[in-house]
Amino acid sequence: MKIGIVGTGRMGTAIAQRLMSLGHEVAVWNRTTAKTRELAAQGARVAPTPMQLAREADCVLSILTDAAAIDASYRGAQGLLAADLSGKLVIEMSTVRPETERALAAEVRARGGALLDCPVGGTVGPAREGKLFGFVGGEAADVERARPLLEQLCRRIEHVGAVSAGASMKLAINLPLLVFWQSFGEALSLCKPLGIDPQRLMNIFADTSGGPNVLKARGAALAAALSGGDAGAVGFNVDSIRKDLRTMLEEARALGTELPVAARALESFDQAAAEGLGASDGVMLPVRWVRRSASTRSGKAG
Ligand SMILES: NC(=O)c1ccc[n+]([C@@H]2O[C@H](COP(=O)([O-])OP(=O)(O)OC[C@H]3O[C@@H](n4cnc5c(N)ncnc54)[C@H](OP(=O)(O)O)[C@@H]3O)[C@@H](O)[C@H]2O)c1
Repeated sequence: MKIGIVGTGRMGTAIAQRLMSLGHEVAVWNRTTAKTRELAAQGARVAPTPMQLAREADCVLSILTDAAAIDASYRGAQGLLAADLSGKLVIEMSTVRPETERALAAEVRARGGALLDCPVGGTVGPAREGKLFGFVGGEAADVERARPLLEQLCRRIEHVGAVSAGASMKLAINLPLLVFWQSFGEALSLCKPLGIDPQRLMNIFADTSGGPNVLKARGAALAAALSGGDAGAVGFNVDSIRKDLRTMLEEARALGTELPVAARALESFDQAAAEGLGASDGVMLPVRWVRRSASTRSGKAG
């Protein structure tokens, strides 16, 4: 199967590498061509436009920042939707609002293709290892067509409803994950006076109900950063976290509900970005909070 990937950011690159490692023929397109060079050197074909990519592929995966990026890549003059999509399967993996996926599915259908939304849980490492969690929305027959490919990318696939259901589920999953970074910073500021070594602290939290799954994956990086060391490669950065929280808040407004904890976390993360942390990994958010609370205290004392 010829696979086309639109968007070779952190996730798109890792997914392309995973598929190439399994012997798939992969073509890629990215707005910034420089970000396709690594994949080209590893054997990917680089398409000049999304339209050209779609023409040559049986299945197109896209994983892009947000709705504006989808709009530009699909609806531009040489976008994906300019190609005849008859018989083709499009798997849209970006974290966006459900209505974005529904609108796109109708346009793909009008061009003869089928669209599934499949946003994913897990970051760059799991993507490279085929260990993502795929939340799939779409027609059952399309999901079955996509399943062999999705199984090569995901450790678990959940078909949660019609097109856009994956997007709803992904926003819901990310809410407790993202506000956790703020609540964890607050928790750490409470036990900071104990002076416990960060690695030991992560180990204690991870073995209690105060520590969610993410600590197993990111606890070591967080401990390193708390000790003043390097948190390592950036997986899910602060700007992406803010984008997801804004998307959740927009979705909640459309649903007539409120997300007060998410709204307050976003204010704090906006402040972190204003302080220069936008491109840093999310683990730096609790580190910032605990340092900030320490400096507030010493400021007061002084
Ligand atoms: N990183 C993670 O751990 C993770 C995990 C699960 C899900 N996700 C989701 O996956 C998606 C991609 O995340 P990522 O971390 O791979 O982000 P990233 O590294 O910032 O890559 C974003 C991609 O979107 C493209 N893009 C942005 N604006 C565009 C525009 N106006 N027109 C065309 N292309 C545009 C970028 O192209 P350029 O290179 O030209 O900027 C790049 O290919 C997001 O929706 C994110 O929420 C991320």
